[in-house]
Amino acid sequence: MTRTPILTTTLGTLTLKNPFILASAPPTASVDGIRRGFHAGWGGAVVKTIHADGMDVKDVSPRFSAWKGTGGELLGFENMELLSKKSVSYWESGIAALKEEYPDHILIASIMGDTDPASWQDLAVRVQDAGCDAIELNVSCPHGMPEAGVGAAIGQNPPLVERLTRDVVRVATVPVFVKMTPNITDITLPARAAACGGAAGISAINSVQSIFGVDIESFEPQPSVGGQGTHGGYSGPAIKPIGLEKVAAIARAVPLPVMGIGGISRWEDAAEYLLLGASAVQVCTAVMWNGYGIVQEMNTGLLRYLEKKGFRSPDELQGAALPRLVSHQSLDRKDRIRPVLGLPEACNGCGRCVIACRDGGYDAIRLREKRLVFNPAACDGCGLCIKVCPAGALAAERYRV
Ligand SMILES: Cc1cc2nc3c(=O)[nH]c(=O)nc-3n(C[C@H](O)[C@H](O)[C@H](O)COP(=O)(O)O)c2cc1C
Repeated sequence: MTRTPILTTTLGTLTLKNPFILASAPPTASVDGIRRGFHAGWGGAVVKTIHADGMDVKDVSPRFSAWKGTGGELLGFENMELLSKKSVSYWESGIAALKEEYPDHILIASIMGDTDPASWQDLAVRVQDAGCDAIELNVSCPHGMPEAGVGAAIGQNPPLVERLTRDVVRVATVPVFVKMTPNITDITLPARAAACGGAAGISAINSVQSIFGVDIESFEPQPSVGGQGTHGGYSGPAIKPIGLEKVAAIARAVPLPVMGIGGISRWEDAAEYLLLGASAVQVCTAVMWNGYGIVQEMNTGLLRYLEKKGFRSPDELQGAALPRLVSHQSLDRKDRIRPVLGLPEACNGCGRCVIACRDGGYDAIRLREKRLVFNPAACDGCGLCIKVCPAGALAAERYRV
């Protein structure tokens, strides 16, 4: 019997049309933007972080840097942007309007108060009275806000995370998610603290603290604001491996739903997050780069994948890869690979594998008359040669010792 899959996704007590949520960021900076996102097919949105009126939040110009591949594709993105430019009252009426127009979409209000928990409580009450489905506490912004004692300054301090979560949960009538910073050695500590404080779920990760670069002529850190710079937050494809590791760690440590974030631009990325324990995913940079419309391919691609794998919904994917994530010590030392010329016609004798193997430690590949010769006795099975081959000519052959 064939089972037709659906994209309906469970996120704690919330039900999403699909697991794709716009992250708190420029694509959710206005009511109209969120409206266009919902229209394009996103299952939910987290409003760009709403801050308490009166907090000193003013953006700099410019505030972005981008690392691109040779084909112009985005590899990594850095921003030094702060919070929403709209007032709390703008968002109160905006949330109410969006929920009236899109009752079946999940709308989450990201909030940030000042160092007084009462300002977080006040924001929480105002956004939930406006009708949001959930609240996300931004205790993870890596730039600007920590200097004022909030953002990642809270998220890096588990006792503060627990206390603030508890304070907000005390007044909240909707689920409270806490958004984690990856800029901490052990992310399970603030995640556990949020759970102890009564959080309904965890969002992870916010951007990765970074300095994008320095202009070696002028010495100006990039992006340069009037000749000076500061650290920012790194996002996009380059941070996906960091996000995956953090989400898997949280999923195993805390019995709460997790929204996976970081470098998701294709349905395959989302599937990886779900397989490592996320219940749903949030996307920012890929939307800024390619527009809200990317969600259509994400929805159809994920649906086809579910069908192919025999799963009924994204819920069934959740955590399916976690049992295979083991300690380094328990990895099988008897299962090994060796390189073989899988596509001989693709090899043009460039010698990249020879150099990588020799200067990467083993000297197990030689080029003789433009033909590769492998020395199995010297090969350590590291697999570097396969990774550096620009033509994809090498393949891994598995064997057991
Ligand atoms: C320009 C920009 C602004 C952002 N603003 C916020 C924000 O206001 N609140 C927040 O919680 N996260 C903010 N983020 C972080 C994103 O929500 C997300 O956690 C991060 O970018 C990683 O996801 P991505 O790789 O899909 O971009 C921002 C990110 C970018 C690039």
